[in-house]
Amino acid sequence: MNRRPLLAGNWKMHTTVIDACQLAAEIGKCSVGVTDRDVLLAPPYTVLSEVAHVLHGSNVLLASQNVCWEEQGAFTGEISPTMVTSVGGRAAIIGHSERRQIFHEDAEIINRRVQGAVKFGLIAIFCVGETLEEREGDRTFEVLEEQVKAGLAGVAPESMKKVVVAYEPVWAIGTGKTATKEQAQEVHAFIRKLLAEMFEKDIADSVRILYGGSVKPDNVDELMAQPDIDGALVGGAALDAESFCRIINFS
Ligand code: 13P
Repeated sequence: MNRRPLLAGNWKMHTTVIDACQLAAEIGKCSVGVTDRDVLLAPPYTVLSEVAHVLHGSNVLLASQNVCWEEQGAFTGEISPTMVTSVGGRAAIIGHSERRQIFHEDAEIINRRVQGAVKFGLIAIFCVGETLEEREGDRTFEVLEEQVKAGLAGVAPESMKKVVVAYEPVWAIGTGKTATKEQAQEVHAFIRKLLAEMFEKDIADSVRILYGGSVKPDNVDELMAQPDIDGALVGGAALDAESFCRIINFS
């Protein structure tokens, strides 16, 4: 199965308008001529529109860092799928561990977000990952199974075209401690097997599964060489144009 690689930068709560435009311009420039892989940026909501203008005409995709399931209404602090698409956004990150842990988003909320995103035509970049305590307690696969099943509950098989899964072990996020290529591959293969059980093999084989957690220029090549790793969701290294450009150009 030929899955198109996806290199995604999650800027988290970084960049003012000026920084964002500059960073997006540099990344846009180094993505010119990149046609065999997808490049995506998820800047803060406040700069989505400016970044969209900077990237206009480029092949870099734009995403929001979260999304609500409703189109509009009394949801203070939220952003709707149509707001995202109205500025040219094509995707939304959902269920990031920072949303789960710091803001206590639970499985039901995350599932509603995934369903809302695909309903309104966005690609849902659905994140899962175990904590260090869960890994050390030998609960990695149990926790991931729970997260994947809950997050994708009620998603129709045909909507899985709009879903990307991101495996981000919590202990590897922002710590400089990357999962080894073997650890990451093992989990990615597990998630794909689970997707085959939940949907069907063809669907599981076509879903892109990204790895996230301290992806850097010096580890991206070996991670991307794994058969079930289809891309990267990058935090810190996506804030540095040179590093992210190197990651986009993994070999
Ligand atoms: P780091 O690349 O900074 O570890 O962050 C990963 C991440 O959380 C991307 O969503």
